[in-house]
Amino acid sequence: MAKSDQQIFNSIQELSAAAARQFGEIITAAVAARGAACVALSGGSTPLSMYRLLAQPPYRDSLPWGRTHFFWGDERCVPPADPESNYNQAMQAMLEPLGVPAENIHRAKGELPPETAAADYTRRLARFAAEFDRLIKTLAGIAIPPVDEEAAGWPRFDLALLGLGADGHTASLFPGQVHPQETTASVIAVTADYQGRPANRVSLTPQVFNAARQVIFLAAGENKAAALAAVLHGPPDPLNFPAQRIHPLDGSLTWLVDQGAAKLL
Ligand code: 6PG
Repeated sequence: MAKSDQQIFNSIQELSAAAARQFGEIITAAVAARGAACVALSGGSTPLSMYRLLAQPPYRDSLPWGRTHFFWGDERCVPPADPESNYNQAMQAMLEPLGVPAENIHRAKGELPPETAAADYTRRLARFAAEFDRLIKTLAGIAIPPVDEEAAGWPRFDLALLGLGADGHTASLFPGQVHPQETTASVIAVTADYQGRPANRVSLTPQVFNAARQVIFLAAGENKAAALAAVLHGPPDPLNFPAQRIHPLDGSLTWLVDQGAAKLL
């Protein structure tokens, strides 16, 4: 079972500062160990202050941005320029100001219908995983085998960032729904209503998150308190609290939460 750690902060500002620091440490260590880092970003409003901090000194100037690859744990099916696009939000807050090279940015194509976007993201994750494996071996001076696209379904993320919905969802894994391919696919198409946000979505599946080296959840605000308490201390109920489906197999799980979200712990 994964090592799990909970850290409670006085404010979203303190939470974001700690998250930015940990983000920096993780990508720095990944690049030192393997020559490149691979991150799955989360959507929602909670990570935005952390993204903005990362785009400023000292992180802007000290982290290995050119060697870090960015994916999204989920995407809303809207065009990439739409303010509701998770890609767009992270671009505005962090990736554009940092000037991260376009070839390091791997978005899900929210402009496509969900099933098509999921199939496209699935293919691109598999292709990237095969190429990333070769890149890492090349950087390490290890002889590289030919690309075996069939063997590599998705990259092993050095960091998967996740949020928590007030209803217990995470990424676009929503209560009361289990996609028939959730345990076999890397990406699924989802339709769900949450706080008036775009309903059609694509999401990485729990097996992709659970293969990550580190998973960090960010949760802030009293409206998350009941869900957080249920996820962390309630009986096992992964159908209704999808965040309980996340338990890295061989990685660490960290919850960074503010006092509001921690109120019922
Ligand atoms: C999305 C998400 C989603 C989000 C939570 C929390 O696309 O909306 O990735 O899972 O992380 O809904 O959102 P907030 O941070 O806005 O509360």
